[in-house]
Formats: sequence, structure tokens, C-alpha cells
Amino acid sequence: MRAITILGSSGSIGTQALQVVDLHPERFRVAALCAHSNADLLFEQVRRYRPDMAALTGPRVPIPDDLQFCQWHFGPDALEKLAHSAPAQDVLVAVSGMVGLRAVLAARQAGRRVLLANKEALVAGGALVMARCQVWGPEATLLPVDSEHSAVYQCLNGAQGNAYRRIILTASGGPFRTWDPARIQLATPEQALKHPNWSMGAKITVDSASMFNKALEVIEARWLFDARPEQIEVLIHPQSIVHSLVEFEDGAVLAQLGLPDMRIPIQYAMSYPQRLPSGLEALDLTQMHQLTFEHPDDSRFPALTLAYQAMEAGGAASAVLNAANEQAVAAFLAGRIAFGGIYQVVTETMQRLGSPAADTLEAVEHADAHARRLADQLAADMNT
Ligand SMILES: NC(=O)c1ccc[n+]([C@@H]2O[C@H](COP(=O)([O-])OP(=O)(O)OC[C@H]3O[C@@H](n4cnc5c(N)ncnc54)[C@H](OP(=O)(O)O)[C@@H]3O)[C@@H](O)[C@H]2O)c1
Repeated sequence: MRAITILGSSGSIGTQALQVVDLHPERFRVAALCAHSNADLLFEQVRRYRPDMAALTGPRVPIPDDLQFCQWHFGPDALEKLAHSAPAQDVLVAVSGMVGLRAVLAARQAGRRVLLANKEALVAGGALVMARCQVWGPEATLLPVDSEHSAVYQCLNGAQGNAYRRIILTASGGPFRTWDPARIQLATPEQALKHPNWSMGAKITVDSASMFNKALEVIEARWLFDARPEQIEVLIHPQSIVHSLVEFEDGAVLAQLGLPDMRIPIQYAMSYPQRLPSGLEALDLTQMHQLTFEHPDDSRFPALTLAYQAMEAGGAASAVLNAANEQAVAAFLAGRIAFGGIYQVVTETMQRLGSPAADTLEAVEHADAHARRLADQLAADMNT
């Protein structure tokens, strides 16, 4: 039996992790749950899973009398408190955004195993996170949950230390894969939120439409797998069946396939190194009439280029990219800027801030805050 803390339990990944707990109640116990604003769902979850600790990081609301049995925490610091202090072996970091970074570091400081869905933590603070984590072997202390990175991890896990030549991350191409570039610029939030294959939270769904999600994943892969930027390639694979691939020195390519359902990588991380039944429909390859792969079109999806520029610039350039993107996506979803404005805000913020220092958590957070202020200003200027 492993006890797990779930940060972001009200979100898409968090609720699916609880479905995995439901499927294997003899294997997993919920030690702590944390939501930001969805108090009603958190209350329901606490009532059902009876954790030792629970937290709301957003607006404070009264706790119902029947839920006083667990220890409650409030405010932004509660993420770290639960990551560090809840009686769990594992901490699933499934919050969205840069707030995940402190939670990851707190969990590691307390010796917890981190199951990492939150990609922003690695993108912004990759060096800080990797200095505290071991990725390989049965004693791994950081396990990727993102489906592409879980796929690469599963392919490399059988490699017995052999070096790989290339990592190929697949991307669905999102809802605008075949759209004319000029039309993409003017896409509405409603159109961007319609992902063809995956059901996910709003921020990551917009990132999938702009390809900033893949930009973040390229940087995430660079840290997780100690890859040089030129070793990471992205291919558009609209069917989302091949979740990613690894090419070895001898030319052999391993891939991980599966239906697009996040419960598979979530459960793999939760049960690692064991594999458990998932209760999901089997993949029927005879029903997959076509599996196609193509290079991404830079004119439609310029975001990917920014990821390589950020990796080359080093320092906190990736934190700047991430922060500017978070602010620009919020502005887009609020109807304040056009879809094409997201890329413009991120590019301009990166150009102006360059690669600030990233050697401490404070330095990364400083760069993050600076980038957010500038991105907000640029978005506001665009609106006038
Ligand atoms: N969904 C996927 O399929 C998927 C796949 C791969 C990776 N990821 C990554 O996993 C993370 C979560 O994605 P998601 O799709 O599950 O997002 P989501 O559905 O939007 O859920 C986000 C979770 O984070 C909480 N949260 C939001 N802002 C917070 C803050 N400032 N402080 C603390 N908690 C906060 C939310 O709480 P409330 O809802 O209560 O406000 C919610 O529980 C992201 O980093 C994403 O890139 C997701």
C-alpha cells in the first residue's frame, strides 16, 4: 500500500489519479488532497477519500462540520506544506503553472517520490529540480506523468544504459493543424478549447492549440532525459496513438503506443516499477487504419522555435518563456488578446529579458515575476 498526496486534485489529472485509486484501493491510500478554487469538489473528495490533510490554496471558504476530521491548510504556502508534511511516500504534482516548482522541491526535501504532471516546474527550474531527483531505476524519485515523457521513459527503461541517438516527441497538432496560418491568428477561445483527442484542463488545451505545450515538453524532455536540444525532435501525429519514440545508436526505434487516455501514464507513475491492470479498452491496431507522421509547419506553429531558442540561451530563458506564455494564455482566455497575440507576447518578452540568472529558486522566481509583469504590459498594450 502506498500513500499519495495529490496536489491539484480538482483538476483533470488529479481527478483521473483518484480514479486510479478507486481501481486499486488495496494499493493506494490518499494521504492529502489540495485544490485551488473548486472547494465543492474538494469537499466531496475529502468526504470520500478521508485524507489526513487537505488544503485550499485559493479563496478561503468555511469548512463543513463533517470534514473537520482532517488537518486543513489555506493559502499558496499550503502546497509546500502538504508536499512536505503529509504522511505519504508519493506526491503527485498536478497543479497547473509555475506554482508547481516549490511543491516539487518541498516534496524532495522531505524525501518523497515526485510523480510529475506539472511541466512548468521543469521548464522553469529544471536544473534545480534535477539536482534533487533521480530519474532511473527502482529507486527513482521523479517519475514523468506527461504522456509523451512517460512514453520516452518506458522506452528508455529497457535500454540497459545504452545511449540513445534521438528522442521523437509526438504532437497531435491540436485543433488548428490544418488551418490557414492567417485564420489561426484570429481563433477564438472556444475554438482553441476544442482538442480533437485529449480531454484536459483549459491552459494545456490552449497550449496544445498553439503548440506551446510541445515547446514546454521539448524543454521538459531536455531535463528529464539529459538530452541535447538537437537530440529532441517533434513530429505531428494526429491520431495520438504513438505517444513518443526513442531512436538508438544502431538505428532501432522503440515506441510506446496506447489509446489517448491519461490514466495509463498516471497509473504507470503511481505503481512504478509495477504495471497494474487499468480496466481500459485494449488498443485494437486493426481499427487504426492510418498512423501518420509529419514535420510541424513553422508558419502555423512558430512556438516550437522559441523552445530551442530558450534552451540555447540557457539561464532562466525557459522560465521567461513559460511565464510569458501563462500570462498571454490568461489574457487570451479572458478575451483581451487574439490567439496570434500569445506568440507575439512570448517572443517580445523573451527578446527583452534574454537569459536572466537561474542558479537559485529566488533567481528563477525573480525572472518569472519580471516576465509576467512585462507580458501583462505587452498584452495590455496590444489591447489598446
Ligand atoms: N490534463 C492532461 O491531460 C495533462 C497531460 C500532461 C500534463 N499535464 C500537466 O498537468 C498539470 C495539470 O493539468 P490539468 O489539465 O490537470 O489542469 P486543470 O484541469 O486546469 O487542473 C489544475 C489543477 O491545479 C489547481 N490550481 C490551479 N491554479 C493553482 C494555484 N495557483 N495554486 C494551486 N493549485 C492551483 C486547480 O485547482 P482548482 O481547479 O480547484 O482551481 C486544479 O486542481 C499542468 O501542468 C499540465 O501541463 C496535464
